[in-house]
Amino acid sequence: MAARLKQALESRDATVAVVGIGYVGLPLAVEKAKVGFRVVGLDRSADRVAQVNDGKNYIADVEDAELAEMVGAGRLTASTDFSAIGGADAVVICVPTPLNANRDPDIQYIVHVAEQMVPFLRPGMLVSLESTTYPGTTEEVLLPILTRSGLVVGQDLFVSFSPERVDPGNARYTTRNTNKVVGGVTDACLDIATTFYRQTILEVVPVSSPRVAEMTKVFENTFRAVNIALVNELALLCDRMGMDVWEVVDAANTKPFGMMRFNPGPGVGGHCIPIDPFYLTWKARQYDFHTRFIELAGEINVLMVHHVREKIIQALGRLRKSVAGSRILLLGVAYKKDIADWRESPALKLIDLLERDEAEIRYHDPFVPAFVEQGTERTSVELEAGLAWADCVVIVTDHAGVDYGRVVTAARVVVDTRNATAGVGEGRERVVGL
Ligand SMILES: NC(=O)c1ccc[n+]([C@@H]2O[C@H](COP(=O)([O-])OP(=O)(O)OC[C@H]3O[C@@H](n4cnc5c(N)ncnc54)[C@H](O)[C@@H]3O)[C@@H](O)[C@H]2O)c1
Repeated sequence: MAARLKQALESRDATVAVVGIGYVGLPLAVEKAKVGFRVVGLDRSADRVAQVNDGKNYIADVEDAELAEMVGAGRLTASTDFSAIGGADAVVICVPTPLNANRDPDIQYIVHVAEQMVPFLRPGMLVSLESTTYPGTTEEVLLPILTRSGLVVGQDLFVSFSPERVDPGNARYTTRNTNKVVGGVTDACLDIATTFYRQTILEVVPVSSPRVAEMTKVFENTFRAVNIALVNELALLCDRMGMDVWEVVDAANTKPFGMMRFNPGPGVGGHCIPIDPFYLTWKARQYDFHTRFIELAGEINVLMVHHVREKIIQALGRLRKSVAGSRILLLGVAYKKDIADWRESPALKLIDLLERDEAEIRYHDPFVPAFVEQGTERTSVELEAGLAWADCVVIVTDHAGVDYGRVVTAARVVVDTRNATAGVGEGRERVVGL
């Protein structure tokens, strides 16, 4: 069984089902189709499925023309119907893994997908989970559901975990040239999974188990969360000491070894850094272990948005105005530069805090024309109109296409949380830093 599947994967005469065609799944589906696999994207969103089938792209990291070409050639289709799993040789799961209201892992999407798949599993299939999750999920949660099919893992069903490392907006490192870690439930599972990933990824890194692969991913995101918190704490201290944190970070970054640059900012956002480390915290509790670095990093990163609020109060004070009744324009609501993803963005918390303070809020973001949060739809205003309207402009996201010189000259006062105005000379006295 394993030999036949391996041969099909190597010859790419195989069908791949990608479950969850979002930020992670859609680029993956296109990449697999490009190398010759027949790909079906499964999603519960009928809208996403219809867009793919129309050859329409909705994820920035995917090339419009490539998607259209793969759909046009019949190599990529999409469906909401899970019976398509029955025709797949490899199934890749890329569904969301958020936190619930108690900030504990919410793996209901993985469970739901696995349960939907069971009736369609057949001998000679690979199932690989890519959603970020706590160590143990593949073997403790996914595997027991999949084996309800009666298939035997390592003999006629091959199961692996391989974390996705996509960095949205990163033009240098794409799906293809980013090394991929893979852990299989058995040696045969690992062999099949590495064969599969080698078809689209330049370097595959096998590890001894799915748990190791799961832990690796959570560690990578924890590493970022902790280092961002460290530089954020430095920013708070520099502010207290009347120093420019950016000058310190720039200078430290000239060290050719033993240093890695992280930038301070208004807090962390996106689907990964604010969430994934808490998957580990939750799992660690089962082992009577308290992940102190994660908790502390979370605390400091959350604090930053309150610090930005204080900076806004300080900036408005220069105009002899209070926050209540002031007009505040946020520049950027995406969680990071040059992308359209606003999930968990610090801008959302900032809007909430400032509206509680009775400020009037508008935003401009060339990447996010509109978004709905807690039932309120907001639309991006035109930049010049926003600048003319606002008492205070807050640079929350430093998108590259914005003319920050113009922002500084047109604004009454600017709070710059990203050092986006560093090169601006005229009007500098109107800028309040982090
Ligand atoms: N976005 C990133 O930068 C990134 C990077 C690395 C890892 N990840 C991880 O990858 C996973 C997916 O993240 P994403 O950003 O692609 O999420 P996403 O929300 O963009 O996409 C997930 C898709 O899954 C679909 N879905 C949800 N439940 C489903 C179900 N029961 N059946 C079928 N489809 C279903 C949704 O409709 C959506 O289209 C998460 O675990 C995330 O932590 C994300």
